[in-house]
Amino acid sequence: MKNIFDLVRARPWTGWLLFLLTVFVTVCLGFLASSIFERRMETKLVEKPFHEIDPLETNNAVWGQNYPRQYERYKSTKEGDFVSREGGSVMIDMLERDPRLVVLWAGYAFSRDYNQGRGHYNSIKDIQNTLRTAVPQAATCWTCKSPKVVKLIEEKGAAAFYSGKWMEHIHDVTEPIGCLDCHDPKTMKLTVTRPALIEAFQRQGKDVRQATHQEMRSLVCAQCHVEYYFQGDGKYLTFPWDEGFTVEAIEEYYDNIRFSDWKHALSKAPMLKAQHPDYEVWKLGIHAQRGLACADWPARIVTCLTVGKEGSNSPIIKFKAR
Ligand code: HEC
Ligand code: HEC
Repeated sequence: MKNIFDLVRARPWTGWLLFLLTVFVTVCLGFLASSIFERRMETKLVEKPFHEIDPLETNNAVWGQNYPRQYERYKSTKEGDFVSREGGSVMIDMLERDPRLVVLWAGYAFSRDYNQGRGHYNSIKDIQNTLRTAVPQAATCWTCKSPKVVKLIEEKGAAAFYSGKWMEHIHDVTEPIGCLDCHDPKTMKLTVTRPALIEAFQRQGKDVRQATHQEMRSLVCAQCHVEYYFQGDGKYLTFPWDEGFTVEAIEEYYDNIRFSDWKHALSKAPMLKAQHPDYEVWKLGIHAQRGLACADWPARIVTCLTVGKEGSNSPIIKFKAR
């Protein structure tokens, strides 16, 4: 058998071929190595935040320095211009739309004022502007409005915070719902910050901190978008889930403790009003059964809206209010 030197001597072009092949392979390996190093550097930079975020940082703009895209998207919840069959995020006076509610809720603060909820950025402005807080209310009412609540509960303890007055915090709770409500500033992992959700799980013998990442993508919302009541004179925020999530189970829970939200002003009947049992309704539906999360939805809607805007005449754009 001929060795490689004989081959090159007999046909000199094979020498050039081998040479070029070696150059090609070396260059490719070089590219590969440089790409590996680049990616390694990238992961180092990704892990390293530009600014250290305080463990109890309530200012959304400070988080925004590290996560400008998420911050911009968060700020876009200020726009209340999305109307859907279920309501959307536009300001709608529900009492004007259905005046029967004024009679149905007679004697309850909701009969004074009840608007369609708007995007998170408006949470502080809207709770200050509603006639419901024109009468004395418990500090508990702040619980689902601001990341400042996370700090106050950490400092005072939940019971002491809830038993205070709403007016006490009118000047210090100014930051609307934000990053600290759902994220651990150190790892950016989703986290439960509201004691009521942790306690509701505990009473069922479950630890919400053991939840999977996919479950967390709904549980962060379940801190606020749920049915709740204020327990006892200390106005302790409690979720009525001990018997289950259905209307019947929650009614049974309230009947067991003889609780009612208010006594009707005309009929004197003890009344219950479900507040916003979004998590419960979702949990009983097909999305939860098929393993979808709340965060799977907005992502898709937002994508549709963006496509709608750029591709001008997409049907999605029809949902936008004029
Ligand atoms: C109501 C809860 C909530 C609030 C408030 C919130 N986030 Fe998130 N955030 C989420 C959820 C849910 C995800 C999706 C996580 C996933 O899909 O894995 C997410 C994802 C992220 C991610 C991607 C993390 C990753 O590991 O890929 C970043 C960064 C982020 N949010 C930053 C912010 C910033 C900055 C703010 C404040 C301006 C904020 N978030 C406010 C719930 C929230
Ligand atoms: C800290 C409490 C809190 C958390 C956590 C929270 N929300 Fe909200 N959310 C609110 C409040 C309060 C409003 C109403 C704000 C207003 O009307 O000014 C609201 C409004 C909304 C609205 C627009 C109006 C409406 O009622 O349809 C959507 C959509 C929404 N939230 C989705 C979510 C999703 C999805 C999550 C979880 C990723 C989440 N929220 C987590 C408190 C919260």
